[in-house]
Amino acid sequence: MRPPSVLNTLSPHRRDQERTDMTRHAVVTGGTAGIGRELVAQLIEDGWEVHCCGRSRAALDELAAHPRVHATPLELRDAHATAAWAEQLERATDGRIGLLLLNAGVQHEGPHERRTPASIADEVAVNLTAPALLTARLWRALRAADGAVVFVSSGLALVPRTDAALYSATKAALSSFATALRRRPERGVAVTDVLLPMVDTAMTAGRGDGGKLQAREAARAILAAARADRRVGIGRARALPALAWAAPWLARRVIR
Ligand SMILES: NC(=O)c1ccc[n+]([C@@H]2O[C@H](COP(=O)([O-])OP(=O)(O)OC[C@H]3O[C@@H](n4cnc5c(N)ncnc54)[C@H](OP(=O)(O)O)[C@@H]3O)[C@@H](O)[C@H]2O)c1
Repeated sequence: MRPPSVLNTLSPHRRDQERTDMTRHAVVTGGTAGIGRELVAQLIEDGWEVHCCGRSRAALDELAAHPRVHATPLELRDAHATAAWAEQLERATDGRIGLLLLNAGVQHEGPHERRTPASIADEVAVNLTAPALLTARLWRALRAADGAVVFVSSGLALVPRTDAALYSATKAALSSFATALRRRPERGVAVTDVLLPMVDTAMTAGRGDGGKLQAREAARAILAAARADRRVGIGRARALPALAWAAPWLARRVIR
């Protein structure tokens, strides 16, 4: 870092520029609960300026109490509101985003023939459309910061669950999207998709056998993998990318 005496000789404009250059901006969708909330907490500890969104007012107010957290109420099913948030982010970060964590997600369970049109639209909009839209709008800012985007996917992307067929399909699409972005030459942005096993959050309440990963551990692993620039299996899902290819029957036993 530049010694203060030198910084003091810079013009006010240049000093502002220096400050912006030193500020690391991270964006987290779904920062209000579960894994996202842990991601925000760990990013703050690591010195990042964190921009996050969610719907729960109480959780947003609590997050916004931290001086380095900018918490925005946002319905991710609303594409116009999501695009407007992206514009706001570009301005607030001076067009330089170091880390984009596309974490928000929703899962509806049950036999697919009983699903309502609204729940189908909800799952696709939150799990796939919103991440695709934010990636498009924030790509330039990620490039400018030599940044990284992380798609929070699931082991179910490779081993779909029969009672969460559409959820599994949205995660498969998200991981496929990440693969395609990675193959672009000259991209200047690290692209990682993380395959999570079952994590102990509201999403999995009442399920699992006690072997669930804690949200804090999941967040730690996601941040450790953030610049991996490849598909990363976490916890029980670590070997999944290889297993799903070589021994699909074994992969199905690893992810339930
Ligand atoms: N838990 C698991 O076992 C597991 C396994 C594999 C992958 N994942 C993935 O990990 C990610 C995080 O999951 P989680 O377990 O932490 O879930 P969670 O505890 O249910 O939290 C979901 C987050 O997404 C936000 N969100 C959901 N719908 C939204 C919408 N329409 N508009 C704005 N924000 C919305 C929620 O905000 P509000 O509460 O404020 O609405 C909340 O912050 C998801 O992408 C999930 O698919 C989870």
